[in-house]
Amino acid sequence: MIYIANWKMQLGVAESVKLAGRVRPMRGQTIVLSPSFPALEAVGREIKNSTISLGAQDCSSEFKSARTGEVSARMLKELGCTYVIVGHSERRKYHGETDALVAAKARAAVAAGLTPIVCIEKASQAAAVRRIKPLIIAYEPIWAIGTGKAATPAHARTVLLAIRRTVKAPVLYGGSVDGKNMAGFLKVGYEGALIGGASLDPLELARITGTVI
Ligand code: PGA
Repeated sequence: MIYIANWKMQLGVAESVKLAGRVRPMRGQTIVLSPSFPALEAVGREIKNSTISLGAQDCSSEFKSARTGEVSARMLKELGCTYVIVGHSERRKYHGETDALVAAKARAAVAAGLTPIVCIEKASQAAAVRRIKPLIIAYEPIWAIGTGKAATPAHARTVLLAIRRTVKAPVLYGGSVDGKNMAGFLKVGYEGALIGGASLDPLELARITGTVI
């Protein structure tokens, strides 16, 4: 199973390093910590001798270019990232990211040797990235993000089946995941989760990543 801890813009560098030091790797699970850009290097150092992986929260669609404020996938690779989240609903909402831009970011990630975790809000958005490989899809219904109201496993299953008709890739569920509801998503076929709020609590994160069905 694959678990992505998306720390968003919630923690500074020192806080990120402290939390990273409290995350326990789980045998056989892929755990990816995604701190904000300024914390990537320090968190990378903290988890260096563990099986925990490093992932960024976004990357540019450009390889090398005059793009003030942007960060390229190659720079992330240089910092030790192996994953990058692209197309998170907060990026789509606050930065106007389109399916086409998200697909371009995912291609840039692959070109730099990273695995993109492409967030989608509905199954049809998977079509834009269906030929990209390696690829991880995260289904995150907008109304479930940060609301404490996760999707039901039945709803999540319906969307999962629709995604699988479009693309061959591991699919994660995201949106108010916690230690109690994780098992329901694994049972209907999800291969892990993208976790926001609950990933800020190492005990809750351990409950999620330790879920067995
Ligand atoms: P949440 O966030 O777990 O806090 O709902 C998930 C996400 O936005 O990736």
